[in-house]
Amino acid sequence: MTDTVLESKELCKTYIVNGYSNNVLQNVDFKLHEGEFTAIMGPSGSGKSTLLYTLSGMDKMTSGSVIFDGEDMAGMNTKQLTDLRLHKMGFVFQQMYMLKKLCIMDNIILPGYQANPRSKDEVNDRARKLMHNLGIDDIATNEICEVSGGQLQRACLCRALINSPKILFADEPTGALNSKASTEVMRELRKANAEGTTILMVTHSEKVAASSDRVICLVDGNIQGELNLGKQRDENETSARERKLKNWLDEMGW
Ligand SMILES: Nc1ncnc2c1ncn2[C@@H]1O[C@H](COP(=O)(O)OP(=O)(O)OP(=O)(O)O)[C@@H](O)[C@H]1O
Ligand SMILES: [Mg+2]
Repeated sequence: MTDTVLESKELCKTYIVNGYSNNVLQNVDFKLHEGEFTAIMGPSGSGKSTLLYTLSGMDKMTSGSVIFDGEDMAGMNTKQLTDLRLHKMGFVFQQMYMLKKLCIMDNIILPGYQANPRSKDEVNDRARKLMHNLGIDDIATNEICEVSGGQLQRACLCRALINSPKILFADEPTGALNSKASTEVMRELRKANAEGTTILMVTHSEKVAASSDRVICLVDGNIQGELNLGKQRDENETSARERKLKNWLDEMGW
């Protein structure tokens, strides 16, 4: 049995808007093991993004606990959470959150310089390699407003991977991409996963979810079920995995 990287125990998140409570996450229990690539699927509004924000400590949980790398995040202060995210977590947001005053390359290398385990030359090389693999090396010096949504999304992935994180949270990382770019992103994610990064990815795409190791369905803030697909060994397996996932989603009434 592999080590548990992250455990969510009875995790609840309630938003209060205009005096009304919205119980977005309701007792979410699951574990992520080291090296696992997990996809979360679920209807719009079911709490997928909220789950990623809460698990990564960007948003405060209402109750329950999240154990990451052996430590309970509920007891951490803001500085501890910021350090944890910088050194051990990567995040591809649904809303990209790039710094507007910096060009694409500078946005990508900034967390590499801040974390400081590698030299600046190594960070720059890694950034160029990631951008090349994702087909965006030509926009390195562009401003944020001078690139397409899909290019920005891939730049966010480069930024998230710059420090080779222990865990990567990816919220619809292929949401703005055509099929070719989407394949490139999935290839890069699988590569990072093979190099040891545990991945938790939200997606609406069956094709994208089918290349993960397991799929968790979130409905109304609860885990409705999960399907184990196992590690994808080669591209030829893709259609069989997609069929298996589709059948399972059909059985669940999706
Ligand atoms: N910051 C917030 N304040 C108040 N309510 C919020 C906030 N963020 C999300 N919500 C509410 O929480 C619920 C879940 O939202 P969330 O963004 O997690 O859904 P999702 O599953 O990611 O949806 P999508 O597939 O559309 O991205 C929604 O009802 C949403 O309105
Ligand atoms: Mg979302």
